[in-house]
Amino acid sequence: MRSSCVKVPKSNGETFRKKLIEIGAMDTSLKIKSDDRFLYIPIFDGSLAPAGTDVTIEQFDAVQKPKSIGEILGFSPSYEIIGDIAVLPEGSIDVGAALLKVHKNVKTVLAALSPVEGEFRVRRYRILAGENRTETVYREYGCMYALDLQRVYFSPRLATERARVAALVRPKETVIDMFAGVGPFSILIAKRAKHVVSIDKNPDAILFLRKNAALNSLANIQVIRDDVHEVSSHLKSQGDRLIMNLPHNAQEYLDDAMVMAKPTATVHYYDIRPEDSFEEALKTIREVATRNGREINVLGIKKVRPYAPKSYNICVDFQVM
Ligand SMILES: C[S@@+](CC[C@H](N)C(=O)[O-])C[C@H]1O[C@@H](n2cnc3c(N)ncnc32)[C@H](O)[C@@H]1O
Repeated sequence: MRSSCVKVPKSNGETFRKKLIEIGAMDTSLKIKSDDRFLYIPIFDGSLAPAGTDVTIEQFDAVQKPKSIGEILGFSPSYEIIGDIAVLPEGSIDVGAALLKVHKNVKTVLAALSPVEGEFRVRRYRILAGENRTETVYREYGCMYALDLQRVYFSPRLATERARVAALVRPKETVIDMFAGVGPFSILIAKRAKHVVSIDKNPDAILFLRKNAALNSLANIQVIRDDVHEVSSHLKSQGDRLIMNLPHNAQEYLDDAMVMAKPTATVHYYDIRPEDSFEEALKTIREVATRNGREINVLGIKKVRPYAPKSYNICVDFQVM
């Protein structure tokens, strides 16, 4: 389209461009053009040109708005971005290519080949597009997490929950992260607590957890690679706060939590429950407390996120007396 423009020598072009943007005169919907000696910077109106500049009328091309993924593919796939890797529940090569095009910061696109499975709660992936790797660095609440999606569990969807728990931690606390993974609870909490004990059975998770403690310059994390059942007796009455982020199986470790909990310790117990059976989780917790000679005080039950239709990932916060 034709537009008024400021014609400036190329050597002064950048200075003029900044000035025209600053005074709100430049029409950024049009592409600046040039010849051997001059830049032609489109402006909304000739009267907006700074005094003494050469104003002409020229033909300009419109700036192309980057296409959305929906515009490229004709549908909008669901995906999440972890560091510089996009992860889809399923997908094809064209979806991978489209994601690389739309997200300049994404370098690899993965499609899941399995659900989260096994003792280490990991997932298998296929590389759809981009670099041949599953390792990345993810940033959350000012912390950095190196991780390999194929070797460890990780979900960015728990970010708000991690921040909620971390905000409850007091400076004198010793916190035991019973199923720590690469440390998204442990690292955030270690910034506030006196001491964090992070346990995980997966050697790869432990490798990244140690790396992440160093990446975030934290020296108050004690990392233990073992089964919680094996180590709980060595941590008797040490925890002011315990995190049990092993939904589906956390109840198998409630006895261990009772052993490690100081009197009045707070426990964050994660579970997956249909909406009408949150009370079942409380019943289980009470039974285990009783057989350990402890009482509990329920602080709250929180829906962390929907898990399946009418089923939720929940967190029961309770105190062990
Ligand atoms: C759901 S992931 C949670 C990881 C981490 N808390 C997070 O939010 O990313 C559960 C973790 O528990 C670990 N795990 C499973 N069973 C365990 C056990 N008996 N003892 C210690 N760690 C265990 C797995 O290896 C896995 O890293």
